[in-house]
Order: sequence, then C-alpha cells, then structure tokens
Amino acid sequence: MRLNPRLTALPTYPTVVLDRKRDALHAAGLPVYDFGTGDPIEPTPRFIRDALTPAIADNCRYPTVLGGPAVREAFAGWVWRRFGVTLDPSTQVLPSSGSKEAVFHLPLLVIDPDAADRGVVFPDPGYSVYYRGTVLAGGDPLPQKLAGDFHQRVWELPAEVLRRTRMVWINSPHNPSGAVLSRDELRRTWEVCREYDILLVSDECYADTWFDAPPASVLEVATEGVLAIFSLSKRSGMTGYRTGMIAGDPRWMTRLRELRANPGLAPQDFVNAAAAAAWNDDHHADVRRHGFKEKRDVLVAFLREAGLEVVASEASFYLWVRVPRGHDGQSYAEKLLEVGILTHPGRAFAVTDAGDEYVRLALVPDVETCRRATDAWREVL
Ligand SMILES: Cc1ncc(COP(=O)(O)O)c(C=O)c1O
Repeated sequence: MRLNPRLTALPTYPTVVLDRKRDALHAAGLPVYDFGTGDPIEPTPRFIRDALTPAIADNCRYPTVLGGPAVREAFAGWVWRRFGVTLDPSTQVLPSSGSKEAVFHLPLLVIDPDAADRGVVFPDPGYSVYYRGTVLAGGDPLPQKLAGDFHQRVWELPAEVLRRTRMVWINSPHNPSGAVLSRDELRRTWEVCREYDILLVSDECYADTWFDAPPASVLEVATEGVLAIFSLSKRSGMTGYRTGMIAGDPRWMTRLRELRANPGLAPQDFVNAAAAAAWNDDHHADVRRHGFKEKRDVLVAFLREAGLEVVASEASFYLWVRVPRGHDGQSYAEKLLEVGILTHPGRAFAVTDAGDEYVRLALVPDVETCRRATDAWREVL
C-alpha cells in the first residue's frame, strides 16, 4: 500500500492513544477517572435538542456552505452580546461542522506548497490539528514554543521567520494550558501580522468557558486580515453535533466560502437550527461554566494542598499541572494511570519538547467523581 508520506509521518492522534489506555483500564476492571479527552458529560440542554428534531425536513436536501440566515444571525447576536462587536451575518460569518474541520482546512486557503514562504506559526504545546492541517496542506510548520505563563508572543518571533509565514494561529483560551491573551497582547499580535501581511487566525473555541473573567476576542481588536473560530462543543455541550463558527474579514470569508464548496463543508440545516437556539441563549452557558468551575475548585484545592503547581488554567476546560520533580509528564501520567486516573501528558500536544513537565486534566468527571479521584491521587503522592 502506497500512502501519502506526509500522512504516515504523523504520530497517532493523541485522543486515539488515550482511548486505548481508557479501554485497557476498563478491561482490567479498574475504576476509571477520565480526565483525558475533553468531551463534557453534562447533557445538551433540552431546548437545543428540541430545536433540532422539527428542523429535520421530510426531504433533507443538500445544505449550503453559507447556511441559512438564522444561525448566522444568532451567532452575530452572541458576538455582539459577548464582545460588543458588530458583524455582518451575510458577509462575515460561516458555520462549520465543529471547529476542528475549520482548523484543519484553513491552511488550504493560503498555503502554496511550492513557495518558499509557506510557513504556519502555531502555539506549541497546542491543539494538534494546527500542525496536522499545516503538514497535510504542504505548509511549513513553525511551532512557537511556549513556557512559563504559556502566553504566545508572536511579536517576539524573528523577522526572518515572520517573512516566510503566511498564517499565524493563536489560541486563547489556550488548550492545553488555559492561558488567556489580554486585549493588548491580541492587538500586538494583530499589528505584527498586518506588518508582514500574514493571515491571523484566532481559535477562540473556549471563549465562553472561563473561570473568573471573560476572555477578550481578537474581533475586539480588528477584523481586517483576521479570522476567528468558535465552537458550541463545550459552551453548549454539543460535541457530537459538530457545530462551530468562523468569523472575520469579509474578503477572506468570500475566499473561504469558495474553498469550502470544494469538499462540501456545510453543516446540516437541522444542526444549524440547534446551533441557532444555542447561540441565542446565554443562560445555559453560564450554568455549564459554573459546573466546570465547581470541578476546577475541587481539583485545584487538592492539587495545591498536595504541593502540585497549577499553571495558567485561567479559562478553557482544562487544568495544566506541573508534575513533581523526578518525573516528566509521560512518567507521571503513567503513575496516575496505576490508580485509574487518566490524564494527557503535556508532550502529547507538542511538536517540540514543550510542555514536557506537565499533564493536562480535562474537567470531564462530575464533582463527586472528581472528589473520589483526589482520594485515588493521594495514593500516588
Ligand atoms: C483549541 C481547540 N480548537 C478546536 C477544537 C475543536 O473543537 P470542536 O471541533 O469540537 O469544535 C478543540 C477541541 O478540543 C480545541 O481544543
């Protein structure tokens, strides 16, 4: 079998590795505290499910890339309420089938695999699809290594790197660290990208999952030369629906719409109907956020008492925990696995050795299970 060498060179997708570990724990009959994959267990609110079924037409015809006006207007309404930014729903908004496919496909918009300047900058550690989408589009992956406070400072990249960059990914709130970029940092990032004529793509899929203060959006800074990505997966408990949004510069959006017509990237109309209901409502997002915060508080109290440092973790759906001396993320994750606690070693998110001394916990198990997990964790301290 002759496969695409760019594909075969990629490491196994991180959640696949985790699924195998979880299945092995189940098979061994061990209790599993699954802080691995970020897939919330809280039910999708009833009113969202109720919006989906009546929208299944007798004859579900092909959906369009643009989607109907209801979902785009509902999303623009949320952007206005949340960030005070006005978007034109007819030219500045497109629905996506979850934000993952948008992240994966976006490099196809700018990358010429034969050009010398085909660089894509992304945070490292970071969501692994920035790297994978770049490689499979024939781009040149340029991981920007993060450490310390895990803030990505694009303006610190050497001019030589910026000159061969076509696209910069930022991600705030950041997966895996939960670090949040300030409005000032977003502005500086945007200014650098304008100076070098680079498309700035801001992945803000955790914009509504925060613990203490709502994070700013790049859209508050500008839309020129900018695309921003949003998701209902965690905000509204809709991971299985596959529903996200792309917003930004109308000139780029026109091109993106043309690109997305090629593979037919168009969420189903009934999914868009459910998504419209979700974007129109903020109450359920508040309720979910408080639920995640409750779990965070239980775990952070325990980790502090245990002398483990929780770094960044200001927002998103994750805790970023520095492992004790004598371990790296991999060895500590293995140790936690012995008592049934499933975490992501930080290294799984990195192309370089960034994040090596960390594990990531996704706030998935309910509060009671989080408490029981802390008892199990005590056994390995
Ligand atoms: C940073 C980041 N971007 C995008 C996604 C994709 O999310 P979805 O496709 O569920 O919208 C994820 C999922 O975990 C993520 O962590």
